[in-house]
Amino acid sequence: MVFEIRKAELRDLGPALALDREAFGPDAWTVMDYAAVFSENSVKKFTAVSGGKFAGFGASEWDREQNAVCLMTLAVRPEFRGRGIGSALLKAMEEAFGKSSDVYLYVDTENETAVRLYRRAGYKQTGIIPSYYMNGHDAMIMRNEK
Ligand SMILES: CC(C)(COP(=O)(O)OP(=O)(O)OC[C@H]1O[C@@H](n2cnc3c(N)ncnc32)[C@H](O)[C@@H]1OP(=O)(O)O)[C@@H](O)C(=O)NCCC(=O)NCCS
Repeated sequence: MVFEIRKAELRDLGPALALDREAFGPDAWTVMDYAAVFSENSVKKFTAVSGGKFAGFGASEWDREQNAVCLMTLAVRPEFRGRGIGSALLKAMEEAFGKSSDVYLYVDTENETAVRLYRRAGYKQTGIIPSYYMNGHDAMIMRNEK
C-alpha cells in the first residue's frame, strides 16, 4: 500500500500518543510531553498516512550541544510495518534541518529491528548508557555523520 509523509498536525497528537504508549510502554512520553512537542515549532514532526489512516510518527530537533539533529521518537503502527514507512520517516526527520547535518539517537540495544534500520541508514554506535530504559535494557547511542 502506498503511503505519504507529511508534516504532523494537531489532530495527530492523539494517534501519536496512543502509538507511543503501544510501542514504548513504560518509557512512553506523557500527554504533557506530547503537548510540548506539538506546541514547539523548533521540533520537526512528521506523520505517515496510508489509505487515509495514521500509520506512523517521528519527531526530531536540533541539539546545539551535540551540533547535530536529535531523533526524539520514531514509531510505525504494527499493521503498517515492513513497507518502508519507518525508513521514510527517518529520512524526513534527518533532512528537516538540512541534508548535511549529523544525526544522533538513542535506541534499546535489544531492539533489533530498529538497530538494523539505523545501521542500514548509515548510523554507527558511539556509546552505551547502561540500564537506560525502564525494563533495564541499555541504550545504544548511534550517530550518522554526514
Ligand atoms: C522500528 C520501526 C519504526 C520500523 O518501522 P518500519 O516501517 O517497519 O520500517 P521499514 O519498513 O522501513 O523497515 C523495516 C523492514 O521492512 C523492510 N522493508 C522496507 N520496505 C519494504 C517493502 N516495500 N517490502 C518489504 N519489506 C520492506 C526493510 O528492509 C526492513 O527489513 P529488516 O527489518 O529485515 O531489515 C517499527 O518497527 C516500530 O515502530 N517499532 C516500535 C517502535 C520502535 O522501536 N521505534 C524505534 C525507537 S528508537
